[in-house]
Amino acid sequence: MHKEQRTFIAVKPDGVKRGLVGEIIKRFENRGFKLIGLKMLDVTSEMAEKHYAEHKGKPFYDRLIRYIQSGPIVAMVWKGYDVIIGSRQIMGATSPVDAQVGTIRADFALIKEYNVVHGSDSEESAEREIAIYFNEDEIHDEYENMAEMVIEDLG
Ligand code: RTP
Ligand code: MG
Repeated sequence: MHKEQRTFIAVKPDGVKRGLVGEIIKRFENRGFKLIGLKMLDVTSEMAEKHYAEHKGKPFYDRLIRYIQSGPIVAMVWKGYDVIIGSRQIMGATSPVDAQVGTIRADFALIKEYNVVHGSDSEESAEREIAIYFNEDEIHDEYENMAEMVIEDLG
C-alpha cells in the first residue's frame, strides 16, 4: 500500500547560487507532495559532520563538507505518499550522466560533486536529517494538501 512519509530535501549551495530554488520546489509541488518545512541557512561544521557521518573516511568526504558549507542552502521537509523514493526519482542519480533525462540532476547538475539537491534515502535517515535542520515547531503539517485529499478519496 501507499505509505505516507516525510523526507528532508535541500537545495545545495550550487543550486541556490544558480537560481534553481524555485525550479526545484516546483517539481516537488507538481508531483503532489506537501511542503511542511522551509528555511534558508548556513550549514555549520557540526551540522555538516552530522549530516554526512555515513561518508566519513571516503575520498570525497572533506570536499563534500566544504561544498555543503560553501554558501547558504534551502532546507525543506516534504510529506507525501512514498515521498522518499518519489523524491529520489525526481532528483535522479547522484551523477548527472547517470541520471534519467527529465530529473533535476540530469537537467541541472554540472558534475557528481555539484549536484544541486539533496534528498534522504530512507525513513531512518529522513528523520535523522530533519532533526539536524528543524525543530518540530518549525514544521507546518496543519494545512490541507489537495493532492492528499485525492488519494484519501480512494477509501
Ligand atoms: P544526496 O545524499 O546528496 O541526496 O546524494 P546521493 O544520496 O545521491 O549520494 P551520496 O552517495 O549520499 O553522496 C552524498 C553527496 O556526496 C557527493 N559525492 N561525491 N566524488 C564522488 O564520488 C562523490 N560521491 C558522492 C555528492 O554531492 C553526493 O550528492
Ligand atoms: Mg545520500
